[in-house]
Amino acid sequence: MSAPEQGAARQAHLLIVDDEPVILQILRAVFEDQPYRVTTVATGSDARAVIAEQGCDILVTDKNLPDVGGLDLLRLAKERDPSTEVIVVTGYGSLETAIAAMELGAYDYVLKPLNNVFEIRRKVERALDRQRISRENTRLLAELRHKNDELQVALQEARELQIELIHSEKLAGIGTLAAGVAHEISSPLFGIMGLAEAILEESEIALVHDYAQEIVDYSTSIKDIVVELSDYSRSSSSEVHGSVHLDQIARDALRLVERSADVQGIEFRLQIPEDLRLLARVNEIQQVFVNLLKNAADAVRDRHGSDGGLVEIHAGRDGEQIWCEVRDNGVGIPAERLASVFDPFFTTKPPGKGTGLGLNVVWRLLTKYRGTVGIESEVGVGTAIRFKLPPQSD
Ligand SMILES: Nc1ncnc2c1ncn2[C@@H]1O[C@H](COP(=O)(O)OP(=O)(O)OP(=O)(O)O)[C@@H](O)[C@H]1O
Ligand SMILES: [Mg+2]
Repeated sequence: MSAPEQGAARQAHLLIVDDEPVILQILRAVFEDQPYRVTTVATGSDARAVIAEQGCDILVTDKNLPDVGGLDLLRLAKERDPSTEVIVVTGYGSLETAIAAMELGAYDYVLKPLNNVFEIRRKVERALDRQRISRENTRLLAELRHKNDELQVALQEARELQIELIHSEKLAGIGTLAAGVAHEISSPLFGIMGLAEAILEESEIALVHDYAQEIVDYSTSIKDIVVELSDYSRSSSSEVHGSVHLDQIARDALRLVERSADVQGIEFRLQIPEDLRLLARVNEIQQVFVNLLKNAADAVRDRHGSDGGLVEIHAGRDGEQIWCEVRDNGVGIPAERLASVFDPFFTTKPPGKGTGLGLNVVWRLLTKYRGTVGIESEVGVGTAIRFKLPPQSD
């Protein structure tokens, strides 16, 4: 075995195997002036040792070696590094041998006698070119897979963040609603206290019974208010999809918004056909309505105060799609701001009044349901937000 010639680290390693010393000598000479690290060996077992210890980029091997055959070396080299290219030299002019070699993954073959030694040099050069391209492709593919994995992770994180964002926006909105709820609870509570005091003073059993019944009624209405609010604050990811009535959801959302003390004097008109249904999470569609109605209420109050504000909710079918519109006669939005209203954190409300997430959440939820949303507005006239959803929204 001749010692491998030392070369630069990135030099291609060429392993040449032939049991005929003359041929080995010729081939060594052919590659002498080439920028490769060339190892020449005369037996299959020496070649096997080189492959096992160092591997090679290109293997040029005689097919018929007395000990380990050329095709076995081919297999060993490919096992160690599948990108190794192999050129088989076959002595019998036998095409069958050549075909067998190609089937095993040889890059090319050369027939003995070697009439044109430079032919083998060209084949080695071409094999190296192909190898370079295929290794580069493999590297790019791995990089792409890695990037793809990273993107998948980022996408999953973004999804989780979005769910969190939608939920926290809802919780922030509950602050406003809670003020109205407290207000609404206070009157039945006041009634209960009065009745309880009356019971303490009352000796007639029939009257005590009536008072107690009234206390039960007041308590039931408080319970209903609390249940509605806690239903709304529940995280929607735990809720299952179902066939829901748009009309019912809009009414529930309206009741939640109306509980806020600051909708007084605003007229809400709701006209949704009772049979409009879609497959969705009640909680999410309700959140869409709550946000749109809160915005509309703010806008009409800004323009009309507590007299003259009107918010209309209409819905219907447009072919397969379900459309819904929330229209108000509020302050309107200047044309140059229209493009920003769906952006997260865009708000014109004073600190503490708005987070600027309402419409962004509306947009996210509707997009999730494969819906679309559009806005029309004119300053001093009002705003209409219209969304469309496929009936079998998922
Ligand atoms: N119906 C409307 N009429 C007039 N302006 C509106 C209307 N709806 C939204 N806007 C404008 O779009 C901005 C963004 O609305 P969005 O609901 O996203 O946030 P917000 O209402 O300011 O705060 P949040 O809803 O998070 O409490 C509002 O600040 C307001 O300027
Ligand atoms: Mg809002």
